[in-house]
Amino acid sequence: MRSTPALLLAFTVGCGQPPSPTPAPLPEAPKTTSYLRDVQPLVERSCRSCHTEGGVAPLALDTPEQVTALGPALWNAIEKGRMPPFFAATSCNSYLDDPRLTEPEKALFKAWVDEGAPLGDPADSRHAPTTPLPVVRHDLDLSIGGAFDVRKMNDTDNYQCFVMNPGNTADLMVKGYEVTPGNLAVVHHVLAYVVTPDQVGQLEALDAQDLRQGYACQSGGVGISGAVRNQIAGWVPGQYPSRMPADTALVLPANSRLVVQIHYNLNALADPKVSPFDETKLALETAPMGSLRRGQILPMLKPNLNIAAGDTASVQTLEVPLPAAFRNATVYRAMAHAHQLATQVTLEVVKADGSTACLLDNPKWDFNWQRDYTLKTPVTLVQGDRLRITCVYDNGPLNQPLVGGTQQAPRAVAWGESSFDEMCMTYLTFAQ
Ligand code: HEC
Repeated sequence: MRSTPALLLAFTVGCGQPPSPTPAPLPEAPKTTSYLRDVQPLVERSCRSCHTEGGVAPLALDTPEQVTALGPALWNAIEKGRMPPFFAATSCNSYLDDPRLTEPEKALFKAWVDEGAPLGDPADSRHAPTTPLPVVRHDLDLSIGGAFDVRKMNDTDNYQCFVMNPGNTADLMVKGYEVTPGNLAVVHHVLAYVVTPDQVGQLEALDAQDLRQGYACQSGGVGISGAVRNQIAGWVPGQYPSRMPADTALVLPANSRLVVQIHYNLNALADPKVSPFDETKLALETAPMGSLRRGQILPMLKPNLNIAAGDTASVQTLEVPLPAAFRNATVYRAMAHAHQLATQVTLEVVKADGSTACLLDNPKWDFNWQRDYTLKTPVTLVQGDRLRITCVYDNGPLNQPLVGGTQQAPRAVAWGESSFDEMCMTYLTFAQ
């Protein structure tokens, strides 16, 4: 109110005179942050491996203009922990190639967005190497054998098995793989297993029984006893090409076949724009037998899940002794698998004295981002160790799937292959 007389005076004096110029804007506070100096190295290190022209992510973050235009959206994804997609808790263990921002880096990013995303002085420009995605050489290119028409299958959830022939007449080592799902709208998972030469006849008979491409293989199996213990490659949403850790590789015996189980969920076909064809491909990077150490994958699962309808924090635990074949073996890598109700998956070693060592904890389980985590410091397990998996599920009314746009009512959920059933699984990669 004290300014009123001055204003009145200004009006009176100004009467009949040209309008006084609008007051000059306050001088802008100098910017303390700079894209080129502060943010560019963070984006290059933590985001660019995926967010680049032609990369796996939708938004290219290659130029200052591209990043600046998206500043608040990028900060939101970082702040909420959605990006970069790396979710293993550091309170549990440390992992290689962790691209996440530290707290001071996050504060710097936020300050830059709050200041209106200033470009800064090109003389201060700084760069950082991009955290790499695994790159897998395509030594062997395999496919399910042409475009498969998924409409030939009867159910919403289907398991179809396809035979691939790698054609190696000598034992081979497999260093890494890249699965390329042919149709992301319908492919829910891809699992490839080795079928040894003694079982190839049985596999070919199964394949010939069914006149369609491949053969139907219900409820998770592939119809060949023991084959599912011999997994060589896999893909679930959010997974990129995968390499075996350190100097290890899996063995593909001479004259084997691969049987590839693909889970197709056909809900998306309700949209006429979605293609009904899939041609999933698998590429292997190989090495001569004996040139690398032999790695082994130990899958573990809790079979009897009992998740009550409405329970918002159903805890399911499995604790088993370390199998004899893995005593004195070293764990390099851990991965978890569950479906959409899961909220947390944890894998620990319980030592003979009752103490625990955490290998992997996904405290915000996200079905869309399932990936493997390579331990920064591999751990050797010994006789007497036990392995404990803990899975937590939210089966409350607010966490139910949508079917045709309607949220479903909670129902009791058990172990099962359908996206609406659940799983509680981990995979550990060892070498002797
Ligand atoms: C390993 C690959 C990968 C890395 C690294 C990565 N992103 Fe992403 N990002 C994706 C993919 C794939 C999508 C699209 C799928 C989705 O939306 O979940 C995406 C989507 C996004 C989106 C849009 C959806 C959302 O959640 O807001 C933003 C924003 C984003 N990323 C920002 C970032 C930033 C910032 C970084 C680095 C700090 C980063 N991303 C690092 C793969 C990646």
